[in-house]
Amino acid sequence: MALILGIESSCDETAAALVTSDGRVLAHRLAGQEEAHRPFGGVVPELAARAHVEMAVPLVEAALADAGVTLADVDAIAATAGPGLIGGVMVGLMTGKALAHAAGKPLIAVNHLEGHALSPRLADRELAFPYLLLLVSGGHCQLLLVRGVGDYRRLATTIDDAAGEAFDKTAKLLGLGFPGGPAVERAAAKGDPRAVPLPRPLVGSGEPHFSFAGLKSAVLRARDAGIHRPEDIAASFQQAVVDCLVDRTRRAIAAIDDDVGALVVAGGVAANQAIRTALAALAESSGLAFAAPPLWLCTDNGAMIAWAGAERFGAGLIDDMEVPARARWPL
Ligand code: KG4
Ligand code: ZN
Repeated sequence: MALILGIESSCDETAAALVTSDGRVLAHRLAGQEEAHRPFGGVVPELAARAHVEMAVPLVEAALADAGVTLADVDAIAATAGPGLIGGVMVGLMTGKALAHAAGKPLIAVNHLEGHALSPRLADRELAFPYLLLLVSGGHCQLLLVRGVGDYRRLATTIDDAAGEAFDKTAKLLGLGFPGGPAVERAAAKGDPRAVPLPRPLVGSGEPHFSFAGLKSAVLRARDAGIHRPEDIAASFQQAVVDCLVDRTRRAIAAIDDDVGALVVAGGVAANQAIRTALAALAESSGLAFAAPPLWLCTDNGAMIAWAGAERFGAGLIDDMEVPARARWPL
């Protein structure tokens, strides 16, 4: 059994966690930066990087204390090395490198997307490869065939905005606040999903790709028409996203010839209840098992990075100190 320290800093959450290779989360600490970014209605990279500098080491210390261990007890240190806002990624990766160097521990550079992709296996230790993953976050919207640790095949991606980006922009357009996804979900609960006719970009098309830019423009037009309640626009928007995700995922399921046993959803947008419910129904009607991590494990956190580190460590995948921080890093 190995003990892995994970550090996450690619966007606006600084996080540290201690996770064992048999899937126990001994500690996880997280510091959000919502207050810092709220006045700007979005994440300001420079502010994020400064906050990561302040929080990274204290969070690691707090996580170690929570778990009742010291750095000497840790078998490896995993840190997000990208993709993400480069200033923040550098802070977390350099923190990981410094700790690994000082304690004489192996370093594991984790792709943030791999953290999301493997997180369902931390939540459900029975979940076996291969599985079909819908990865929906603030920066990405992809369908991936997850065949094993480090073995991913991308089946589809967005041709413009990510799903989370669409939620965030819609929240901004409707004045619902920041962060956008949960704000839209709350407003949608008070609205009618059939009230506002909105497009379903790419629904029915042959390739399982995604597109959300047209939907965002339609939300803007609906708002400016001045006849709809924001709650009804939010509910109609959320329903349009659900319909797009379900249609595109159904298309991918139909095209897969690998022996996939489960449909899995992960990433921040996977915290959305309407999306989880619709995908669970799709899995059932497709004869697949369904898995979605608990909400805290969907949005960015340190445990998913520690877990991806544990999976990589188990596969003998460690990195040297030269490994770079990357703003872009496709899985
Ligand atoms: O995975 P994540 O925490 O960070 C990235 O890697 O991007 O995802 C953040 C995204 C944001 O766009 C946020 O608005 C969205 O996930 N999100 C949600 C919900 N909670 C977070 N979107 C819809 N419904 C939610 N409940
Ligand atoms: Zn993420």
